[in-house]
Amino acid sequence: MIDFINKLPKAELHLHIEGTFEPELMFEIAKRNNIKIPFQSVDEIKMAYQFNCLQDFLDIYYQGANVLVKEQDFYDLTFSYLQKCALQNVRHTEIMFDPQTHTERGIAFETVIKGISRACVDAKEKLNVSSLLIMSYLRHLSEEDALKTLQQSLPYKELITAIGLDSSEKGNPPSKFKNVFQASVDQGYIPLAHAGEEGSSEYVWEAIDLLKIIRIDHGNNALQDPILVKEIIKRDFALTLCPLSNISLQVVDDLKDHPLKKMMELGLKVTVNSDDPAYFGGQINQNFIEVQKALDLSKEDLYELAKNSFQYSLLNENMKQEYLQELRTFYKEN
Ligand code: ADE
Ligand code: ZN
Repeated sequence: MIDFINKLPKAELHLHIEGTFEPELMFEIAKRNNIKIPFQSVDEIKMAYQFNCLQDFLDIYYQGANVLVKEQDFYDLTFSYLQKCALQNVRHTEIMFDPQTHTERGIAFETVIKGISRACVDAKEKLNVSSLLIMSYLRHLSEEDALKTLQQSLPYKELITAIGLDSSEKGNPPSKFKNVFQASVDQGYIPLAHAGEEGSSEYVWEAIDLLKIIRIDHGNNALQDPILVKEIIKRDFALTLCPLSNISLQVVDDLKDHPLKKMMELGLKVTVNSDDPAYFGGQINQNFIEVQKALDLSKEDLYELAKNSFQYSLLNENMKQEYLQELRTFYKEN
């Protein structure tokens, strides 16, 4: 099974680039930028990664991102993640980045986007991994701040495919961002959002109805409402699930209780993703391996998950079909 998972062609659809920041690279970049971090060693950093909830994690995650200053830092962070993709047979990835985490500290939008997108171009050429970018608004900040970020993104519009909504969910409902989502769609961005990770099914309804999203990040709590489940199936929206993240942030107590299999049985389209792999104890393949074991998933289930990852990606139809063909060939031979 492990070998099958490692070789399975797949796409990652829920990944925060700031959440891929491994302690070793964080120390290296902190040193070259002369920035102090509140940890003495890699072990000390890893010890700090014990979270009771989403906010516990976010406090540490934003601190880690503080050492990213130069375009090269964003390049190195992104290329390092894409190298891990190549090793895991992640053929395509849709990368979220949080511009406000950086512009709030005085880093130019241009520095962030140029570093990340240059790494993506190089990865396609050198590693044969394709990618696209999702600009995520931070929901703990105001809608006005998100609108400012939208404006800053416009000169680089061609480099960005979609928008997302992340950070502290509870108390920051999707309705707070209705206007900026509409304005972003008017600019050609595809709307996506985190919903139902810690927030209730009501937040998922809002994300669908008010923000008009076409794919749901997490969405675990959609299961609270059978009418919502029906609606998601009817509209053919996928949920990008993140099993190890859910365990780390105590959204789910035990992987054996993870809703992934139940969702598949209900007819929901779901995918497996790593969210913030440097913080949650595993890259995408580790997520597949652990959830397969906990829920006793069959090869057919794994094939279905990989198929969903391409089918519900934001790629054009031609590229989707190419990857799906590669996957079918693999499945037939294995
Ligand atoms: N930012 C990075 N990871 C996140 C998550 N799991 N939920 C909300 N915001 C995030
Ligand atoms: Zn996320």
